[in-house]
Amino acid sequence: MKRYAAIAGTGAYLPETVLTNFDLEKMVDTSDEWIRQRTGIVERRIADADVATSDLSVHASRLAIKNAHIDPIDIEMILVATVTPDTVFPSTACYVQQGIGAKNASAMDISAACAGFLYGLDLANGLIISGQYNTILVVGGEVFNNIVDWEDRNTCVLFGDGAGAAIVQATEEPKGILASYIGSDGDYADINLLGIPAGGSRMPVTSDALDKNLNKIQMNGREVFKLGVRLMPEAAQRVLRKAEMSIDDIDLLIPHQANLRIIEAVGDRLGVPREKVYVNVDKYGNTSAATVIIALDEAIRQGHAKPGDLVLLVTFGAGLTWGSTLLRL
Ligand code: ACO
Repeated sequence: MKRYAAIAGTGAYLPETVLTNFDLEKMVDTSDEWIRQRTGIVERRIADADVATSDLSVHASRLAIKNAHIDPIDIEMILVATVTPDTVFPSTACYVQQGIGAKNASAMDISAACAGFLYGLDLANGLIISGQYNTILVVGGEVFNNIVDWEDRNTCVLFGDGAGAAIVQATEEPKGILASYIGSDGDYADINLLGIPAGGSRMPVTSDALDKNLNKIQMNGREVFKLGVRLMPEAAQRVLRKAEMSIDDIDLLIPHQANLRIIEAVGDRLGVPREKVYVNVDKYGNTSAATVIIALDEAIRQGHAKPGDLVLLVTFGAGLTWGSTLLRL
């Protein structure tokens, strides 16, 4: 019998503290009007100072486990997509394992920036359809507030904290991940395009690096914008071709939530009507690896994505990395 990887349950967790555009007006030279017009973001969530990515991820994972009606000991592998790990090592996935009591799992992190969650789904799909695993927890979680330069108006208005999780499980029903594609292009691995220069083996965090804020996000927003608008439609079309489906078959498109203008451009290029394009960037900003799974969970919870629906997820991020997943819920 052919095996499929189904989404058995999802969960999401956003910290309670809300940082509005009006709050940001008091911190940097910006305005609510500028942020709304250029990004569509109205507010974002910020984790408390003592909260790490694994804390948000554990909350989201517990909800996914509950919604999938499984026991944590059934989980055989934990994949946590993040660029804001609790520590360089141990992996955030190991802290999540401890937090949810998934004693029988192997655990590791995925570093693919904003595309990380779909990288995780792609891996989970391969491991499940090959028969190697039956139940995998895939998480996208970020605490960005520690890597944002709160004095840089070009970046600090864009990001937020949050986590989402999915239990991916083997089934013989033709549902779940129908097609998946991930890609990357290391020619764009340019720290000035999008990245954090200090804190790795190339450049340690010295007092000089700290003075220059090199342990915080650097980004060329305009270039990143253009790349996102080009790469996401290409990735989405690729999975549709793989599954031999058309864009008209889609019930819901969930693009990476980085900027409303990027989201709308991707929907328009693909020919998806606006009412089928899921948007929550206004409430949470860009939560990097967590955006698409937070959005999927929210869409399911609010009835925008129902059992049997065809959902197309697409994302891109630093690296560059990108990916798309076609799901039958
Ligand atoms: N408030 C007021 N003015 C601002 C702000 C701000 N927060 N930020 C920038 N500006 C100014 C700039 O300084 C510039 O001024 P200048 O013309 O005097 O130099 C002006 O606004 C216009 O700047 P642009 O860069 O042209 O603005 P743009 O319309 O491109 O919007 C933005 C900038 C929002 C960053 C946009 O380019 C964008 O969203 N890019 C993609 C970002 C993204 O998706 N990043 C994450 C990728 S995913 C990941 O891997 C983490």
